[in-house]
Amino acid sequence: MTKPQEVRTWRVGVAGLGTVGGGLLDFLASRPDFAPAGGRVVVTGVSARSRSRPRAVDISRLAWFDDPVSLAQSPDTDIFVELIGGSDGPAKAAVEAALGAGKAVVTANKALIAEHGAALAALAEAKGVSLLFEAAVMGGVPAVKTVREALVGDEIRSLSGILNGTCNYILTEMETTGSAFSDVLAEAQRLGYAEADPTMDVGGFDAAHKITILAALAFGGSPNFAAAEVEGITGVDLLDIRLAGDLGYRIKLIASAERAGEGARVQVRPFLVRKTHPIAQADGALNALFIEGDRIGRIFLQGPGAGAGPTAAAVAADIADVMAGARRPVFQAPAASLQPCAPSAGTAAVGRGYIRVMVRDEPGVLASVSEELAEAGVSIESFLQKPPGETPGVPIVMTTHAVAEAVLAAAVDRIGRLPAVLEPPRLLHIASI
Ligand SMILES: NC(=O)c1ccc[n+]([C@@H]2O[C@H](COP(=O)([O-])OP(=O)(O)OC[C@H]3O[C@@H](n4cnc5c(N)ncnc54)[C@H](OP(=O)(O)O)[C@@H]3O)[C@@H](O)[C@H]2O)c1
Repeated sequence: MTKPQEVRTWRVGVAGLGTVGGGLLDFLASRPDFAPAGGRVVVTGVSARSRSRPRAVDISRLAWFDDPVSLAQSPDTDIFVELIGGSDGPAKAAVEAALGAGKAVVTANKALIAEHGAALAALAEAKGVSLLFEAAVMGGVPAVKTVREALVGDEIRSLSGILNGTCNYILTEMETTGSAFSDVLAEAQRLGYAEADPTMDVGGFDAAHKITILAALAFGGSPNFAAAEVEGITGVDLLDIRLAGDLGYRIKLIASAERAGEGARVQVRPFLVRKTHPIAQADGALNALFIEGDRIGRIFLQGPGAGAGPTAAAVAADIADVMAGARRPVFQAPAASLQPCAPSAGTAAVGRGYIRVMVRDEPGVLASVSEELAEAGVSIESFLQKPPGETPGVPIVMTTHAVAEAVLAAAVDRIGRLPAVLEPPRLLHIASI
């Protein structure tokens, strides 16, 4: 016999009814049995830009709010779900309003958390309410909970991830079809895989928002997007994809965070990753995350980083956490005690490099290139020379042993000034995972 229990109803206000918001309403409509912690979830109000736009789910019986701030402050909203997007503007105003009114907030907005996470966490903690954002990183893959909760008993050393499906799709297509970046991007836009303005994705900024959040959780700081080093995939050349392939590597846009002195270094760059590494095998629009910890060793997560269903499932999991009363600091410690994540002053970045130099096919060129590297103290690990082909000049490719990145960059700069070198050399970094 079970005792009859009072069932609490949680009234949810959803701002943003696009891909994720629509997916959430669809999920909640199709799962009337979704009753985490014994509570009931009822969507009471919604907000979007256009009231008349046709929606996949019937919203005619829900209260409509032109202004998401009013929905956030409504006495009928217990949990405010922000699915509008953007680091500022209506999303930020509405989240601040909800927290200020003492309401729990669930959001999928990585830009907002990466750029304003510290202040929002302080507000949430001052009001004693939850601010949860599982869907903001890797969509349906539970990366936030894994780093913030499941691995809290370990010391995370590094995180390396493929956190932007659009870039991974483009790089995979370039490799498999032999098409140039601009052609694959145009096709991805035609198919709806890439935005009309692809800057956030191909510029590396979307991945940088996500790794900024994970770094804060992993290394016990507050998100510091301004300190992230960001390079996107617009400069990735098909020739380098082919040559890296000949050397046993794939080029992937890797978002990484690693301890640097007392702090952490956060970067997004196209990296060469050994083909046999699980990260190199995450193809197409997949997301992947490789975590190294002192005690736990290595963990690999992979799955759908976007899409209505997976992302809505992550939002629903956060709603469940609010209902269960889970209460912990928004990041790893109370917001007021956190320092922004950044490398300690004086920590030199060290890594292995891939250098591709286009040279005139004449005697002595190879010797002059190797001399520049030797003089700088850069030691060559492997070397590849291709016969003259369709390109003007001959590509010489070298990979190096680990060396200070600044030393490597200066040596490559000098190589670019040698008379037989036909164009600025290409320097890429080799992932240390
Ligand atoms: N799409 C994904 O797979 C995915 C995955 C992970 C995280 N996210 C994050 O989830 C959030 C939502 O993304 P999405 O892809 O669902 O975006 P979306 O499809 O573009 O939808 C955005 C929604 O916000 C509404 N909106 C825009 N301006 C508004 C305003 N001033 N007031 C009220 N509503 C407003 C839009 O209204 P209308 O419908 O009337 O235009 C639309 O319903 C973003 O932070 C995104 O980064 C998305």
